[in-house]
Amino acid sequence: MSTELLRRLVEAAQTSSNDAVKILEQLSPDDINLSGVPAHLVPEDAVGYVPVLKSEAISIGLFVLPPKGCIPLHDHPNMTVLTKVLQGSIEVTSFDFVDRISGLARPFFQGTLKTNAIDILTPREGNVHELATADGAIFIDVIFPPYNSERPCTYYEWIAPDDYNTPGVLKTVDTDFYTILLPYSGPLL
Ligand SMILES: [Fe+2]
Repeated sequence: MSTELLRRLVEAAQTSSNDAVKILEQLSPDDINLSGVPAHLVPEDAVGYVPVLKSEAISIGLFVLPPKGCIPLHDHPNMTVLTKVLQGSIEVTSFDFVDRISGLARPFFQGTLKTNAIDILTPREGNVHELATADGAIFIDVIFPPYNSERPCTYYEWIAPDDYNTPGVLKTVDTDFYTILLPYSGPLL
């Protein structure tokens, strides 16, 4: 990503998700020096994270999933997340809360995002998701606003309903999932 493209992406994300998506569509692996990411350092039971940029309004980073890697089911309270797959493919399973307090929820999406595919998660649609890969994958997340103490990340287990027409439950769980930080060697703002 040129510094200019990064600046335009940050600006667009403050005003219009659609504009930010258009800029993400232009983003290529070379723009963020993807070949400089030491993906081989990610343990097989972890996920790598490459921080690109973080402010109070937005965070941008790369997630590096090893073969059979998975980011378990988690939420993004009152947040929007744009995801673009830069390498490999990911299996996405997402849910919408019907009632966040009780955990009642419905399936929203289940499918494969291949290289260059872009996914949009909003406060209301697909806000709880799991991301997994068979052969390894790298994707970029543009998150606005970012997690903070008022918007913590919670992990869930999906309890499917007996009857598909009724909501299931997203039950909060502890997880031993962890990320390791990897260095970013692309352009900065
Ligand atoms: Fe997420």
